[in-house]
Formats: sequence, C-alpha cells, structure tokens
Amino acid sequence: MKIFVTGGAGFIGSNFIHYWLREHARDEVVNFDALTYAGNLENLRGAEGNKRYRFIKGDITDAAAVARAMAGSDTVVHFAAETHVDRSILGPTVFVQTNVVGTQVLLDAALAAKVQRFHHISTDEVFGQLMLGTNEAFREDTPYRPRNPYSATKAAADHLVRAYHTTYGLPVTVSNTANNFGPYMFPEKLIPLAITNLLEGKPVPIYGDGKYVRDWLYVDDHCRAIDLILEKGKTGETYCIGGLTQDVSNLEVVKKIIALLGANESAIQFVKDRPAHDRRYAIDWSKAERELGYQPAHSFDEWLGKTVAWYQKNTAWWQRVKSGEYRDYYRRQYENR
Ligand code: NAD
Ligand code: TYD
Repeated sequence: MKIFVTGGAGFIGSNFIHYWLREHARDEVVNFDALTYAGNLENLRGAEGNKRYRFIKGDITDAAAVARAMAGSDTVVHFAAETHVDRSILGPTVFVQTNVVGTQVLLDAALAAKVQRFHHISTDEVFGQLMLGTNEAFREDTPYRPRNPYSATKAAADHLVRAYHTTYGLPVTVSNTANNFGPYMFPEKLIPLAITNLLEGKPVPIYGDGKYVRDWLYVDDHCRAIDLILEKGKTGETYCIGGLTQDVSNLEVVKKIIALLGANESAIQFVKDRPAHDRRYAIDWSKAERELGYQPAHSFDEWLGKTVAWYQKNTAWWQRVKSGEYRDYYRRQYENR
C-alpha cells in the first residue's frame, strides 16, 4: 500500500506515521504537510532515513501541488487541519481555508487519482455539547450541532467527504474521534500545556469552573483504530472512536497531572471562560468495537502516566516548540483573562 498522509508533521499525523512504518513493513508513506506553526519535522526523527518514507512540503489548498504529490498513492489519510478551538475564536478565516477548502481540493485530487480509500479524520466536536449529569454519548447518527468556528469547519468538511461518496462514488470512510493526548502534542492543548507549564513552574490556566468534561483517547489507540478502519471499515461509513475515561473533568485531569509530577495544586489558576465552551463530550464507540474489534489498550490513568513521563524526558522538544510564535500566541490568548 502507498499511503498519502496529510498533516503528518502534526501531533496525531506524526504518531500515525511512526505507527504505520512500524506495523506495516512493506508499505510506503508520503507525508504532505505545509509546516504551519503546528507542523514540526522533529516529530519525525526516526522516520527520516527510512526508504519507505518521504516528506513533501505543500499546502492542501494548492490543487496542482496536491495532484502532483498524490499521484501513485492508493490510500489517503487526511489529518491536515487547523485544530485549536481558541485559535479559531481569535481568527476563523484560516480554519475555513484549510479545513473546508483544503478538504475539497483533496477530494477532487483523490477522485482524479482514483484512490481506493479516502479516510477523513474528524472530531466529536462536530456534534456540539452534551450536558453534565447525563449518560448521553455521541454516536454515528447523532445530529451535527457545531458551536465554534473550529468544529463548524470540521463539520463542513465531513459533509463534503460524505457528499463525494454519494455523488461521485469516492470510497470514503470518516472517523469522529475524542480528544487525543500523547507524545508530540502541541502544548497549546490542555494536557501538554498543563504538563509543560508545571515543569516550568508556571500556573495552569483552567477555563471557567473547570467542570468541563472531555472523552480522552490515547493517540496510539487512535492510530490502531484508523488501521482497523482501513482494513475492515466499510466505505461510506462513519466510526466514532473514544477512550476509557468516564466523565473526568478538566480540573480532575489537571489534579492527576499535578499528582504525577509531585507539584502543588496552588499552580491551578481559574481564568475567564472560553466563549461557546462545550460542556461535555462522551463517545459511544460500540459500533467500532462490534464491527472492527476496536478497544483502547489501557486505562486513561495508565496512558496519562506514560504521557507525563514522555514530556519529562523530552524537555528539549517542547522547550523549542514553546519559543517563537508560541509566546506571541500565549500572550494574546491568556493576558487579561
Ligand atoms: P495538529 O494541529 O497537531 O497538526 C496539524 C498538521 O496539519 C500540522 O502538521 C500542520 O502543519 C498541518 N497543516 C495545517 N494546515 C495545512 C495545510 N493548509 N496544508 C497542509 N498541511 C497543513 O493537529 P492534530 O491534533 O494532529 O489533529 C490532526 C487531525 O485530527 C485534525 O484533522 C483534527 O481535526 C483531528 N482531531 C484532532 C483531535 C485532537 O485531540 N488533537 C481530536 C479529534 C480529531
Ligand atoms: P483543548 O485541549 O483546547 O481541546 P478542545 O477544546 O478541543 O476540547 O481543551 C480541552 C479542555 O480544556 C476544554 O474544555 C478547554 C479546557 N482548557 C482549559 O481549561 N485551559 C486551557 O488553557 C486550555 C487550552 C483548555
């Protein structure tokens, strides 16, 4: 198989490339990535030098570059996106360009290249929010109710992907996935932000009352789920993929990290809430379990411990990431909150 991965220099994409080269000894991987602030080729040390891996710098909104790079690939796995909700609130335009227009450009290229599968990575955030104190969970047939620019653009992309299946017969699959965490996650997102701020002796900002709930999925479990979808998933189908958390609030997540690091809870700093902050996410992944045999490998606590240890060990990686553009973003996002 020759896989064309978009956004492979980001958090999940780079983990996926390491996973795929390790688990599929004969396959070739092309990584097509524009290297925005979130793209980092350091995530791919270890893959570089592998004859089955090739990096091409390019933008998914550039139709000619996409067509050239995709030629000869039989499978597309599409991760490339603008991904941070807070940034989408500060400036939505690039989210529409990359997440909506970029996806449509890729779909056209995939049709022209006659790929055997186009797998689109999406998020549970397209479903909107659930309320606290209920047992409700998102399923494949949950109506779309996105509430912020990031999730609205991901929702638009999902609709386009499905429309290319029904209209043009493109063999697509879609996964709507919970919040991921693990190595190489950009420290603008809650878990790596909390770990690295604590390692630097800085406060950890918690939005609002901290009683917001996410479903947490370890990135390797996600990569295995994508592998299962490529192997056993039916074209035209959607799969919801979640982890093993049961309503752990943001405040509890941060307290767990503080305990793992032996830090002090006085580092917690409640700050002004995010606008349109979704209260609770939970995923019912029983379809993926039933049809694909998907199961997360370990508990949230076990994976969280491994993640904290990775950031403790890879200080140089996140210290470099937290310089430059990051500082400017952090100031814009957190000052006066
Ligand atoms: P990320 O922000 O870490 O990485 C995104 C990557 O896409 C970067 O390497 C960036 O350079 C690249 N990119 C951005 N714009 C591009 C463009 N125009 N052309 C080419 N490349 C471009 O993202 P992530 O957290 O790894 O998320 C990957 C995918 O998974 C996204 O589609 C996201 O919506 C989805 N997802 C993420 C999570 C999560 O918790 N991180 C959860 C569910 C779904
Ligand atoms: P985030 O990692 O940005 O993912 P998403 O918004 O896509 O779910 O945020 C996870 C949760 O943590 C979310 O409820 C917002 C909250 N949060 C904070 O409380 N403080 C922060 O500094 C950040 C970045 C997020």
